Amino acid sequence: METIYGNKLPLMQTVMEEVLGYIRDVREQLKTKYGADPVEHCLSRIKTEESMREKCRRQHLPETEESALCVIHDAIGIRVVCAFLSDVYAVRDFLISIPVLSLVEEKDYIRHAKPNGYRSLHLIFSHTSGLYVEIQLRTISEDTWAALEHNIKYKKEIGGNKALLVKELKRCADELASTDLSMQTLRDMIYEENSEGSDL
Ligand code: GTP
Ligand code: MG
Repeated sequence: METIYGNKLPLMQTVMEEVLGYIRDVREQLKTKYGADPVEHCLSRIKTEESMREKCRRQHLPETEESALCVIHDAIGIRVVCAFLSDVYAVRDFLISIPVLSLVEEKDYIRHAKPNGYRSLHLIFSHTSGLYVEIQLRTISEDTWAALEHNIKYKKEIGGNKALLVKELKRCADELASTDLSMQTLRDMIYEENSEGSDL
């Protein structure tokens, strides 16, 4: 059977590798500048055939290469999990400056959390090849929460306690967000102390 990506899979792989290379570059740059790796871990994937077809059907789109690569923008997806909030925005700023990438959409669910408590910075870039790349950036705390929430969302057995669960998840998300802010303050204090007297 013909794949929904037509003959574009090798190009998609190449573009994904290229963008992963930019992320390696920014890690090196920020490591040199601040003495610490801003990225805790980084995941990447090409959406599977099955899940892309499922998304087309859900969005009432024909199951074509055009839908998969031009209408839907997350066939290539990268998740960058950062140590601190400032790292999320530092990585963002670096990516924005890459000449072959142009930002076509930005959703800041960190500054404006989803009602359920989800926090993450979503960027969609268009690459000069014509392909789109979705990059999700978030902190370790935000990533932990998203993983747990994703896991729970698909558990069918949750019945009567759903409202309580949703409320508690939201509370956890807000507590984690407040911890991220405290950790950021600590990091800033440590960095300022270390850079005092140096010509950085
Ligand atoms: P999609 O059809 O999924 O692309 O939705 P959308 O275009 O409205 O995009 P949005 O930026 O809201 O979400 C895109 C992706 O972010 C999802 O596929 C998930 O990976 C992640 N995401 C968004 N909201 C949530 C959430 O509430 N919980 C978790 N765990 N992940 C989320
Ligand atoms: Mg989307």
